[in-house]
Amino acid sequence: MFDRLWQTVVEESERAREVVGRYAHRTPVGLSSTLSRIAGGKVILKYENLQKTGSFKVRGALYKVSQLRGKVSGVVAASAGNHAQGVAYASSVFGMKSVIVMPETASISKIEATRSYGAEVVLHGRVYDEALEKALEIARERGYEFIPAFDDVSVIAGQGTICWELLEQAEADMVVVPVGGGGLIAGVAGVMKRLRPDVKVIGVEPEAAPKMLLSLRAGKPVSVEPKPSVADGLITKRPGELTFTIASHLVDEIVTVDEEELSQAIYFLLERKKALTEGAGAAGVAALLAGKLRTEGKRVVIILSGGNIDLTLLHKILMRGLSKVGRIVRLSGYVPDYPGQLKRVLEIVASKRANVLDILHDRVDVSIPPWHAKVVLLLEVPSLSVAEEIVEQLAREGYSFSLERGSRP
Ligand SMILES: Cc1ncc(COP(=O)(O)O)c(C=O)c1O
Repeated sequence: MFDRLWQTVVEESERAREVVGRYAHRTPVGLSSTLSRIAGGKVILKYENLQKTGSFKVRGALYKVSQLRGKVSGVVAASAGNHAQGVAYASSVFGMKSVIVMPETASISKIEATRSYGAEVVLHGRVYDEALEKALEIARERGYEFIPAFDDVSVIAGQGTICWELLEQAEADMVVVPVGGGGLIAGVAGVMKRLRPDVKVIGVEPEAAPKMLLSLRAGKPVSVEPKPSVADGLITKRPGELTFTIASHLVDEIVTVDEEELSQAIYFLLERKKALTEGAGAAGVAALLAGKLRTEGKRVVIILSGGNIDLTLLHKILMRGLSKVGRIVRLSGYVPDYPGQLKRVLEIVASKRANVLDILHDRVDVSIPPWHAKVVLLLEVPSLSVAEEIVEQLAREGYSFSLERGSRP
């Protein structure tokens, strides 16, 4: 049973290259010297965040929808994220109607992006499962075909086109792949292990939803109760039956990363590689930076699977990242409450070329000593040592301030 499935995935994936090659981008790869140094090997990034619709998901959607051309009048999908945009785009390419059911909690930017590809968006339910039920109902009513997000041979084969491309672009000893429901890793492992059986295929999951890891341990697909994660694209309750079967035969290892590691990877990729990735897209780099991959002396390919991050989440991650490295700090202290005192404090701050991002000036709270005001400054500083110099200078002039790294005033 598995051998036949594997063979079909490889054959279909090779066939999918034509349509995916025509309507999606051949995404670039690039060597990262900083990551190579950290890995003690050679690290190559595959920039699937630059793919059409912002993620690899369009590959599977294109191949699946292309096969339905002329057979059905429309397609339906349920998704809060990248699958929605992939299916919407793929249907518009083939002139087919598409209905995408999204949970009411889906972000406005994703809803708008999906609509912009010409899909009819139906908002239904609070969670994915409710949206899924509605999508199946619409498929039945209208006679449309339901497009699964990962547990489908054509979808898996479409995602596998990334591996054919990769084989032409880079040599690898290890390929690192984010895992949601497992469609991407099943496609990559299917192709890779047939063409280059020695290459290790490593999956990365968030600790918030380690469903593939636990399923592999259990020897069968099991469900987890997912927690919210920065890597929302990797949050599914359970791997697929097909994706689990393929992973259990072909994937070498699954590692997990926590929320802090994911956030740091997003920050790192933006600052060092000028690459905007969403949490799911940064999972491979998160695993590397956290020392969870055995990369010494290896050629490692990491797939940056998507870049559709909500900008408010990105803002939070950047503020946290900047405060962690000491570029954003908080100074708090008391100043005598008479005119000119705050001005003097700010002059000292300005003299050190620090920039005030936010300020709190409170003279009412009962905890504040009489005739004083509490001042909290959120500052952007060139480095942590500059912030320390500011605190010293303030102390020399009689203002007692303490320094914290932090992003809230
Ligand atoms: C950016 C990104 N990476 C990885 C994945 C995981 O893909 P799969 O569900 O095929 O494992 C997803 C799924 O939505 C995704 O959006």
